[in-house]
Amino acid sequence: MAVLRAAVDAARSAPSVHNTQPWRWRIGDGDTLHLYADRSRQLEVADPDGRLLTESCGAALHHARLALAAAGWQFDVRRVPDGAPPDLLATIALTGRGEPDEHARTLLDAASSRRTDRRPVLDRPVDQAALDTVVAAVVAEDTHLYLLRDDQVVDLTAAMSSADRTEVGEEAHRAEIARWVGGERRDATGIPASAVPERPPQTQVPTRYFGPPGTLAIDERHDVAAVYGILHGDNDTPRAWLRAGEALSAGWLTATAQGLAMLPISAVVEVLPVRMALRRMLSGLGYPYLAIRIGYPDPDAPAPPATPRLAVDDILEG
Ligand SMILES: Cc1cc2nc3c(=O)[nH]c(=O)nc-3n(C[C@H](O)[C@H](O)[C@H](O)COP(=O)(O)O)c2cc1C
Repeated sequence: MAVLRAAVDAARSAPSVHNTQPWRWRIGDGDTLHLYADRSRQLEVADPDGRLLTESCGAALHHARLALAAAGWQFDVRRVPDGAPPDLLATIALTGRGEPDEHARTLLDAASSRRTDRRPVLDRPVDQAALDTVVAAVVAEDTHLYLLRDDQVVDLTAAMSSADRTEVGEEAHRAEIARWVGGERRDATGIPASAVPERPPQTQVPTRYFGPPGTLAIDERHDVAAVYGILHGDNDTPRAWLRAGEALSAGWLTATAQGLAMLPISAVVEVLPVRMALRRMLSGLGYPYLAIRIGYPDPDAPAPPATPRLAVDDILEG
């Protein structure tokens, strides 16, 4: 069905950890679209539980929902259905026609310009009203976004440094990064060198180890005005991770639509003791899914390049 194929097409632009695009779609009976995890593109070393894989699939699910809503379709979504095959994460079932959703259209438009921008952000405080809309977009997806106070950012810095030290010390981790990051990415997955900064950016929370430097030009700026936060929720289950991915997408596109850049920081949830430390930082608020940074990108610098994507026929059956 053309509308479901168009939704899959729109979902291709979703962000995913290391641009692994770990999703597979199948059009089923009765106007249904099934989303599966594709374990062949799971990060076995950094993400053995599939937490980041499932969050990435959640972001794709949110993009597909936006495409359907913007085109005026009504639908139900069942997430991680009981008794379903293990890799089936969600089923979207069309239920009828309605009015095109203008808000969904705005976010879908933002999806085409959204990029992961790893450069330092401007020295301009983030507008509180804009932050409130980002938090509200996350909350609407059953997830929470805890924004860190200035004195808590240093704890995230320490957590990130510790996670990075652990990961860089592991041969298997370095090999996994080398497989997914750098070069020109002829296979349409992974992060090209052109999206990786040419040297470590000056940021309050260090960016993750990505192997040899890339070619993305950065200036001497320091992101002192950036806001850092932690996406979190009540459960540490695949369903909660899927919702967290939908929330990441909703918050990120809401930020993009207002001229803000959002950067996911996942190493802090990849290393178990660091993830537990993050949980203590949340002091009982719940389980951490991902850390993020929000700030204004430099309007005079060219946007980072679009990263490659698999073709619809590579990820869709039926
Ligand atoms: C769950 C998740 C975790 C991510 N973690 C990081 C991260 O730790 N550091 C980073 O620079 N980018 C991170 N990213 C961004 C991806 O690398 C990015 O989405 C991907 O390379 C595609 O590029 P694009 O977002 O510009 O389309 C993450 C994205 C997702 C969805």
